[in-house]
Amino acid sequence: MMNILAINGSPRRHWNSELILEHALQGAQSGGEAQGEIAQLYPMRYSGCLGCYACKRKPNQATICQFKDPLTPLLQKAQQADVLLLSTPVYFFRESAGMCAFIERLLYPWTGFFKEGYASKRPKPLTVGLFYTMAGTEQTVPEHGHEHFADSTDVFFSFHFPGYERLMAYETLHTEDYNAVELDVFDPVARRKSREERFIKDCTQARAIGASLAAKARAAQG
Ligand SMILES: Cc1cc2nc3c(=O)[nH]c(=O)nc-3n(C[C@H](O)[C@H](O)[C@H](O)COP(=O)(O)O)c2cc1C
Repeated sequence: MMNILAINGSPRRHWNSELILEHALQGAQSGGEAQGEIAQLYPMRYSGCLGCYACKRKPNQATICQFKDPLTPLLQKAQQADVLLLSTPVYFFRESAGMCAFIERLLYPWTGFFKEGYASKRPKPLTVGLFYTMAGTEQTVPEHGHEHFADSTDVFFSFHFPGYERLMAYETLHTEDYNAVELDVFDPVARRKSREERFIKDCTQARAIGASLAAKARAAQG
């Protein structure tokens, strides 16, 4: 049975990042027998990497973060997963702090710094999808100088998860009621239209990515 782990990196339940993730998960489950769940990062109180280097201690370096806190069970699940789906809002043109902290804790133990060179020490094959949702548009993101915001994560993910797939969902709806908040630079009518048209397409794309990742995982299992 294939094991799918989906992680919502938004503090908001049932908003853009989780909706996209639900579609990705459904796509991943569509092709056959698969066990899947969505884990929420934000109800947990955990930290990013503490730089303790316990995962690098010789002779038997651990492939799981040695610091124990409420994130530990989720990191253990990630060790067992065949498909990992990560969804995050874009905050100041990075992943959310919760998602950044998760990635630090997951990937440092999996990164080998051997004399012969760098190596990925992830314990088993894992196909990964990374889903970003953001308010910026395809025009404004480069105009504001942020077109490379995901490059650094892309380098690490390409290294650890060859063939990982990524989706950028632009122009998301911030809130149901733009009158109640000061987000005046955004046109509420255009946002609503984007939610009803563009976002639906992004969800369809997320579903296709989920299905594609599951197919790759199935192929890797043989
Ligand atoms: C603290 C904060 C920072 C944000 N920074 C950005 C940003 O740098 N670029 C952007 O395009 N959108 C930004 N946004 C908008 C969110 O990325 C966007 O609304 C996202 O879809 C929210 O995801 P959610 O609905 O799953 O919570 C920011 C929102 C918040 C609350």
